[in-house]
Amino acid sequence: MKSSPALKSDISRRRFLETTSLAGAGLTLALPELAGQSGRSLAGEIAEKPAKLGGKPACSGGWPGWPVYDQTEEKALLGTLHSGQWYRGSGKAVEHFEAAYQKLTGAKHCIATASGTAALSTALGALDVGPGDEVILTPYTFVATYNVIVLNYALPVFVDVDLESFQLDPNKIASAITKQTKAILPVHIGGYPVDLDKVLEVAEKHKIAVVEDACQAHLAEWRGRKVGTWGLAGCFSFQASKNLNSGEGGAVLTNDDQFAEVCYNFQNQGRARHVSGYNFSYSGTRGSNLRLCEFQGDLLVAQMSRVIEQSDRRNQNALYLTKALSEIAGIMPAKLYEGATRSAYHLYLFRYDKAHFNGLSRGKFLEALSAEGVPCSGGYGTMNKDEYVSGLAKNGHYLKLYGEKRLKEWLDRNHNLPQNEKLCEQAVWMFQTMLLADRSYMDRIVEAIRKIQAHSAELAKA
Ligand SMILES: Cc1ncc(COP(=O)(O)O)c(C=O)c1O
Repeated sequence: MKSSPALKSDISRRRFLETTSLAGAGLTLALPELAGQSGRSLAGEIAEKPAKLGGKPACSGGWPGWPVYDQTEEKALLGTLHSGQWYRGSGKAVEHFEAAYQKLTGAKHCIATASGTAALSTALGALDVGPGDEVILTPYTFVATYNVIVLNYALPVFVDVDLESFQLDPNKIASAITKQTKAILPVHIGGYPVDLDKVLEVAEKHKIAVVEDACQAHLAEWRGRKVGTWGLAGCFSFQASKNLNSGEGGAVLTNDDQFAEVCYNFQNQGRARHVSGYNFSYSGTRGSNLRLCEFQGDLLVAQMSRVIEQSDRRNQNALYLTKALSEIAGIMPAKLYEGATRSAYHLYLFRYDKAHFNGLSRGKFLEALSAEGVPCSGGYGTMNKDEYVSGLAKNGHYLKLYGEKRLKEWLDRNHNLPQNEKLCEQAVWMFQTMLLADRSYMDRIVEAIRKIQAHSAELAKA
């Protein structure tokens, strides 16, 4: 991994970060005892123009690159290349990965798949989700969570979010459950655990399966146990941006022996383990080819040699950042529930309240932060209101299955998720790779935001 260049961090800046809750009120103050310690005074730092207004960026690049790899990956990939055993049925790499990931997560079974979407499709397929069924999900997620439901001609039922945590609001699940509800699909968005106690309680009460979308949540924990191992199944993605990466890839975890076999069969064209040709042995009724290949297995085994150290580093930096950012008025880091003993921090999530930044819009805040050399994004839009989703109400198959009246009610419901609306207006994301940087980079993020706040009135007018 590339090491980060030493930053010109100094005492005055650190004390600046510790003491500038004043700047949270938009004040420009001179504190004489901090001045002159390094040629850069507190007053100077606050007065220093934001990069967007022609000042020097708080951060001049040098964020860690991604993916991280070395000879471990090279050796494994070349080994498989030369062996000619590129398919999981003939090689051992995917099986090695499954065993290693199962051990790391404490799950009873791990079934590798071609992607996170394929993992979700496998779990829903094995559950036999189909036309007429309803599946509960959060609107604040990547569109794949929605797509896998719709590909089965089931009805996606959005439940509003808990603004503070960015997660599905578990207190709103019960009222969305009907006789048709087949599964709850909670997403650990950003890698922060959903409130699993409450999700599992309501699911158990109504005898509904829980499939955890843990595609962003590698190594995250709920009450000391890995997420993805609490529901009937947990689905992971190893797509290139993810904390565990094989370009594309995925896995289903489950503690249920029978369900594991159905999942295995589903991703293997309905065929059981070690069955080839036309000697079919079904334990499900549907299947596809959603298999991972040996090269991806190699990459995952190699990447796993760094995954714990990287996760620790993200956690340490994220906790440090949360402490510092929580002191800035108008910056609200996403809440971790009491049971969340570890987040994956695939994203670093916070909400931005422009009222504390002289009305500076989130769009302009993001532009100013990017100009400071801090990569960031506004994250997801309101998928529930998007034409891509609304169009389902005009789909011939859906009209036949659910009828116009029900789909009209469904559309109305999709347009009434006020907390998600607010979240999509306020959210700010930073990315997992940034949390692998030196601690001093976290200080730069805080410094950039404070600088923007101190100059927010000018930035709002610019
Ligand atoms: C929450 C969530 N679910 C599902 C997926 C789908 O995973 P993949 O891209 O591996 O198919 C992703 C990927 O970004 C995701 O973030």
